[in-house]
Amino acid sequence: MVARPPVAVVMDRMTVDDLAAVQEIERESFSTPWPPHAYRSELETNRMAHYIVARHGDRIVGFAGTWLMVDEAHITTFAVRKAWRRQGVGERLLLALLALAVARGAREATLEVRPSNHPARRLYEKYGFAVVGLRPRYYSDDNEDALIMTTDQLDGRQMRDRLARLRAEVAKRPDIELGEDGLPIERSEEAGGEAAEGEGAEGGHAIAPDVLRPSNVRKSS
Ligand SMILES: CC(C)(COP(=O)(O)OP(=O)(O)OC[C@H]1O[C@@H](n2cnc3c(N)ncnc32)[C@H](O)[C@@H]1OP(=O)(O)O)[C@@H](O)C(=O)NCCC(=O)NCCS
Repeated sequence: MVARPPVAVVMDRMTVDDLAAVQEIERESFSTPWPPHAYRSELETNRMAHYIVARHGDRIVGFAGTWLMVDEAHITTFAVRKAWRRQGVGERLLLALLALAVARGAREATLEVRPSNHPARRLYEKYGFAVVGLRPRYYSDDNEDALIMTTDQLDGRQMRDRLARLRAEVAKRPDIELGEDGLPIERSEEAGGEAAEGEGAEGGHAIAPDVLRPSNVRKSS
C-alpha cells in the first residue's frame, strides 16, 4: 500500500546545512568518504566547485559535484542514497551537472571511476562518457587504478542530441512513491538481474580523497 503520494525529485544547490545528510550518503557509498571539512572547504572557498543535491520531499537522496576549469567540467563526486538507487536520481543529477557545465562554457566533462564500479560506468556510458585513459593506483585504499572517462564536445551535435533524448526520457519517469516505511517502493522489474548489479559495492570518488585535503583544494583567485 502506498502511504504517501509520489513526490518529485528536485535538484538544488548544496549548502553547509546539507552536509550531515551528505555525510550519511558518503558513508554508505564510499570506502574512503570525504571528511565533512572537505565539503565545507569546497563550498566555502573553492570558486571552481559546484555542488548540487537531489531532494525528495524533505530528504536529501543524492548529490554530485564538479570543478569547472576553463572549458572542462571535472566531476568530483557523485552518489545516491542506497534505498533511492535505480529510480533515475543519478540521471537527474548528471543531467543537472552537465547543464550547469554547458551554461558555464565547459566543452567537455571528465571524471575518474573504478573499473570495478559497473553501475557508475554504465551510467556514464549512457551519457556519452568513454574511457580515454588510466590513472594507475589512483585509489589509495586498495590501489585500484582509475579509468578516465570523458565526453565528446558538449556543444557538439551528437552530445546535444543524446542529452535532449535522455532528458525527455527522464522527464517521463513517474515520481518516486514511498511505502509505509518511508522508503521507495521497489519496482518489480528491479528485483533481479541488472538491478542487483553493484548492490553492496562501494564506489570510489571521482576525485581521490587525498586531493581534497584543505591544502590541496585549489582556490580560484
Ligand atoms: C552510480 C550511482 C550514482 C547511480 O545512481 P542511480 O540513481 O542508481 O542511477 P539511475 O537510477 O539514474 O540509473 C541510470 C543508469 O545508470 C546505470 N546503472 C545504475 N545502477 C546500475 C546497476 N546497479 N547495474 C547496472 N547499471 C546501472 C544504468 O545505465 C541506468 O540506466 P537504465 O535504468 O536505463 O538501465 C549509484 O549507484 C551510487 O551512488 N553508487 C555509489 C557511489 C558511486 O559509485 N559513485 C560514482 C563514483 S565515480
